[in-house]
Amino acid sequence: MIKRRHSLWMSLFLSLVLVLGVFLPAAQVQGTDVNNSVNYSADVIYQIVTDRFHDGNPSNNPTGNLFSANCSNFKKYCGGDWQGIINKIQDGYLTNMGVTALWISQPVENVFAVMNDKDGSTSYHGYWARDFKKPNPFFGNMNDFDRLIQVAHAHGLKVIIDFAPNHTSPASSDEPSYMENGKLYDNGTLLGGYTNDHKNLFQHYGGTDFSSIEDGIYRNLYDLADLNLQNPQVDKYLRDAIKLWLDKGIDGIRMDAVKHMPFGWQKTFMDTIYNHRPVFTFGEWFLGKNEIDPANYAFANESGMSLLDFEYGQKMIQVLRDGTDNWVGFHNMIQRTESAYEQVNDQVTFIDNHDMDRFTKVNGNTRNTDMALAVLLTSRGVPTIYYGTEQYMTGNGDPANRQMMTSFNTNTRAYQIIQALAPLRKANPALAYGTTQERWISPDVYIYERKFGNNVAVVAINKNLSQAANISSFVTSLPSGTYQDALSGLLNGQSLTVNSSGSTQAFTLKAGEVAVWHYTQASSSTPLIGHVGTMMGRAGQTVTIDGVGFGTSNGTVRFGTTAAPILSWNDKQIKVRVPNIATGKYHVSVTRSNGVKSNEYKNFEVLTKQVSVRFIVHNAQTNLGQGVYIVGSVPELGSWDPAKAVGPFYNQVVFKYPSWYMDLSVPAGQTIQFKYIKKDSQGNVVWESGNNHSFTTPADGPGTVEKNWSN
Ligand code: NOJ
Ligand code: NOJ
Ligand code: CA
Ligand code: CA
Repeated sequence: MIKRRHSLWMSLFLSLVLVLGVFLPAAQVQGTDVNNSVNYSADVIYQIVTDRFHDGNPSNNPTGNLFSANCSNFKKYCGGDWQGIINKIQDGYLTNMGVTALWISQPVENVFAVMNDKDGSTSYHGYWARDFKKPNPFFGNMNDFDRLIQVAHAHGLKVIIDFAPNHTSPASSDEPSYMENGKLYDNGTLLGGYTNDHKNLFQHYGGTDFSSIEDGIYRNLYDLADLNLQNPQVDKYLRDAIKLWLDKGIDGIRMDAVKHMPFGWQKTFMDTIYNHRPVFTFGEWFLGKNEIDPANYAFANESGMSLLDFEYGQKMIQVLRDGTDNWVGFHNMIQRTESAYEQVNDQVTFIDNHDMDRFTKVNGNTRNTDMALAVLLTSRGVPTIYYGTEQYMTGNGDPANRQMMTSFNTNTRAYQIIQALAPLRKANPALAYGTTQERWISPDVYIYERKFGNNVAVVAINKNLSQAANISSFVTSLPSGTYQDALSGLLNGQSLTVNSSGSTQAFTLKAGEVAVWHYTQASSSTPLIGHVGTMMGRAGQTVTIDGVGFGTSNGTVRFGTTAAPILSWNDKQIKVRVPNIATGKYHVSVTRSNGVKSNEYKNFEVLTKQVSVRFIVHNAQTNLGQGVYIVGSVPELGSWDPAKAVGPFYNQVVFKYPSWYMDLSVPAGQTIQFKYIKKDSQGNVVWESGNNHSFTTPADGPGTVEKNWSN
């Protein structure tokens, strides 16, 4: 009897599931959930300044000069903590908004000292570390951190930590009593401070004037005690520290100040991370308005990590906040970055952050913020929303842009826009992986189409707040039919009709209107790779390939021409191991069991364990226009191809002309051959004479090799 009742309810339940299954659109971008920490293309990141979000545990708040009880002094701790974030996960504020990842402040123990001489500043932001292996007690203890990870994961949220291995804290070169003298601790044991630094834990070349990359790397960023990453003790300590946080189950890392650390060392650090537990990592390479920096692209393409997309963010600010550019400039940026970044979908987009003016202007209109959010959430790249943007918080510059969260209202229009569009990144792979094509453009109007296979999303925006725009018709890849606005009219969007020849009706975009129309196609007969993560790894490392149309039975995944061992295979996701092949770059492709081959996903870098070696060459006199480069026997040194030689070397800070140096990521425990060359901008090359230099790299930790230029 009981058994029969049970099965009756069970079959009712099952038929309900089946009926609903027919009407609910199936999620098309599968396998990008919280179990996938290497692909964020379908995610929306929410950036939290931990101290400024929500105080869930007043008993861990600092006292005295460190604390501002009502957060009226923005330079003090204000009480926000991990328990506060847990509470806001549990009450639904974050998940109901639709965000799927949280980026929190650097979690490590920071200085307790207050900067009394200047303005009473404190380490509330988390960027003044003293012990990278301990938690910041004002954010919580390690149990609180573990619970944050658990609760976040249980609610489908990934957790990204900020990490700042460039420096410890503010220090003075001759006043040991200033602040905490930049002291570095190893889980409570003092390793050393900035003055009297006989272990050479820090660099002592004064503050940078930002005049060159070299200057920014080896001199202090402001007054922050700059860590000497070539010091074996510092190097091992930081690797152990990041492993500790990786072992806690974090899903991502936002790397602070990547322009200010040797690029070679950072690549070795990425190799350590990916070998330990691969997680999506993106660095902060700050760019100002209209700044286009080839070194920024090169870093994103070579270092193993992605970047915050400042070019995107600054352009959005110009177009929709400051009015100093328009959609023509915006689309130029979209086109330029699509080819400059090898993986544009892995760069992390935003419209503001804790180092910029908040997007909503003081006494400004909120419509511009709404429009910017709609574009951000439908653009290529991983969108990040700075906490409080959905509450239209304002504040120009730091720390006014980091005030305590003002409210948790779930009815603001901005909150509803995020709620409508965040799930679309998971529902339609055109948003996660698609190309971007302009379909109609004027200074005020931008209609762009995202497309991945047969999946299409079209976004139309008229940023003019007083004048409607007449659109005669535009051509689209949307199949014929009528499409409802995915924003349900939140920004006055209407439906769109596409005729059988792929053109739309004539229509009007109202002042300040945004509409989003889209089409998904569940299956594809052609395999199409949308994402490969990570894009760098050692033989044997697991790599996740996401896309559509892979088929249900195993086919072949190739790195170049070599088949990779398959770990799992379904129509939208494949996991493989990096095959045991020569180091270097390979294009990844998928061939279905029926023989149909996918697109090639370009430039996966196969490497062996990396160490950072400082290469130094003395007495290399150059003519005007020449630089010194290294070229050698491994891909990391250009495989003897002068066109791929690494450099130009530095010659201003640690060593000075005619000595040159650079810290490079090279294979560990290997004997390598190399030579230095002098090269000019036309590619004319002067080789060192004599035999190749030979050097056996350390099996572990950083090394140094010093030579004289041989004439
Ligand atoms: C960039 C961070 O975003 C900023 O807030 C911080 O002060 C500096 N790096 C130094 O860590
Ligand atoms: C440039 C990268 O930034 C550096 O880390 C690497 O060692 C060289 N390319 C060689 O691949
Ligand atoms: Ca607290
Ligand atoms: Ca530095």
